Amino acid sequence: MPNAKPLILSFGSINIDLTARAARLPRPGETVHGESYAVMLGGKGSNQAAAAGRLADGSGIQVALAGRIGQDSFGTQARQELERFGVDLAPLREDAAQATGIALIGIDGSGENCITVVGGANMAVDETDVAAASEWLERAAVVLLQLEVPQQAVLAAARKARAAGALVVLDPAPAPEHGLLDALWQEIDILTPNESETFQLTGLRPDTVEDAAKAADLLLAKGVKAVLVKMGSRGVFWHDGTQSGHSAPFRIEPVDTVAAGDCFNAGLAFALAQGKPFPEAVRIASACGALATTRHGAADAAPEWEAVAALMAAQPEA
Ligand code: RIB
Repeated sequence: MPNAKPLILSFGSINIDLTARAARLPRPGETVHGESYAVMLGGKGSNQAAAAGRLADGSGIQVALAGRIGQDSFGTQARQELERFGVDLAPLREDAAQATGIALIGIDGSGENCITVVGGANMAVDETDVAAASEWLERAAVVLLQLEVPQQAVLAAARKARAAGALVVLDPAPAPEHGLLDALWQEIDILTPNESETFQLTGLRPDTVEDAAKAADLLLAKGVKAVLVKMGSRGVFWHDGTQSGHSAPFRIEPVDTVAAGDCFNAGLAFALAQGKPFPEAVRIASACGALATTRHGAADAAPEWEAVAALMAAQPEA
């Protein structure tokens, strides 16, 4: 795998998203008429890879994805879409015994969503996938991890990557019902919880910057090296282990929040792989997440670097 380009590797889930739009989401036991539907690339691992791939176009940074798909038509679709984003799929494995993961997504008129994920091949990811991707994990400048594959595999990937000097970013999404594995905390360079994940991991709701700072302190005390609390429309609180700050939200009109967190993490990885200082990387990540909410879809909502640069120029940090 000889390649001199700096590498961002996403190790995680691949889904096909079956998305229905309706004026409002159905209540339990209810059927509502929808307006449109789409069958598109999703999954937190592949969204982060695809978004990084789109940002990195022409930048000299390579983006790759490790994980598992089934040998089915959704697997073929996922491959084709990821290739469109310029993602190197050499570390991706196929599993003849499992179906490609899917997500059933409902989106209402205000852009709010609810998601049911059926993990399929993603839930079979284990240490053999880490071994198969070991050269990639060892060569990466930044490794993006999420929690749609089993935590044991996430832990093994984080260990391998960090031992080789990579920066490990964990998006603790979906919110882990039973918390993180004890051993995982110290293998994380940057943890990026959103509001509900912060509550799940700390018991604190980051409704204010002060609350987010308290939550970040609790997370740092568990062993992570840096924390970004994604506070939605309230911006981002960050602590790099030494310094901390608050990045104000961008003013945008959201239409669909699916994968905004994935695009945020892709932007963070892209900035850090280029050696940007932490506060600037946070700002770039925020711009990527904000722009993703102005577009429909998951991976498809990922912004190009030109759009990110334009938003940052139009709305500079005060
Ligand atoms: O983060 C958004 C993603 O979550 C969707 O694309 C869906 O696949 C679920 O995994």
